[in-house]
Amino acid sequence: MNTAVKAPSPSLFFLQQFFRDPRMVGSVIPTSRFAIRGLLDPIDWTGVRCVVEYGPGTGVFTRDLLRRLGPDARLVAIDTNALFVDYLRDSIADPRLNCATGSAADVEDILAGLGLRSADFVISGLPFSTLPPGIANAIMDATARAITPGGAFLIYQYSRFVLPMLQPRFDRIDQGLIWRCVPPARLFWAWKNADALSDDA
Ligand SMILES: C[S@@+](CC[C@H](N)C(=O)[O-])C[C@H]1O[C@@H](n2cnc3c(N)ncnc32)[C@H](O)[C@@H]1O
Repeated sequence: MNTAVKAPSPSLFFLQQFFRDPRMVGSVIPTSRFAIRGLLDPIDWTGVRCVVEYGPGTGVFTRDLLRRLGPDARLVAIDTNALFVDYLRDSIADPRLNCATGSAADVEDILAGLGLRSADFVISGLPFSTLPPGIANAIMDATARAITPGGAFLIYQYSRFVLPMLQPRFDRIDQGLIWRCVPPARLFWAWKNADALSDDA
């Protein structure tokens, strides 16, 4: 599955990208395996058809998601940083994965371009608190529309910054805290009711 990568190591490449654009990358190291498992383990991935990942970076969540998803599932990874997208394309060879250079705010257009109508789950690696003003709300609005009824928006952050943005847009928000990360990671699962009306209903 994995082929050669261009960068000397994922961690060094990630750090280089942080120094290029600290506000957009938002962290000096990729997310720890404790936070990844903490966010993904509670979900039953059986039968999940379409997942979107925002801000995959060097792909620590992407690889774990692909191990969990079935053979017919699709994973769409969207990152504004074209170097991260190139990195993913060069390092993960999996026909279920589509990588797109673009903003999470354009998730609906990106899905439509791939012939997909909605996502069962959207996973965010975005540094919401340091994104340019207005972008975070645009991403929240587009995500709430793009998620299939019964699905959820999964977020990991180092603060509760996103909570007031999730509350008006989702039906139920579960929260968790992973102490084994430095600093501790806050996890959010923002659910859309299964009987929620979809925009095209
Ligand atoms: C904290 S890094 C997370 C990387 C990786 N998911 C991880 O957990 O290690 C944030 C990522 O979000 C990307 N990003 C920032 N703003 C974005 C946006 N509006 N749409 C898509 N990706 C964005 C950055 O380029 C970077 O790859």
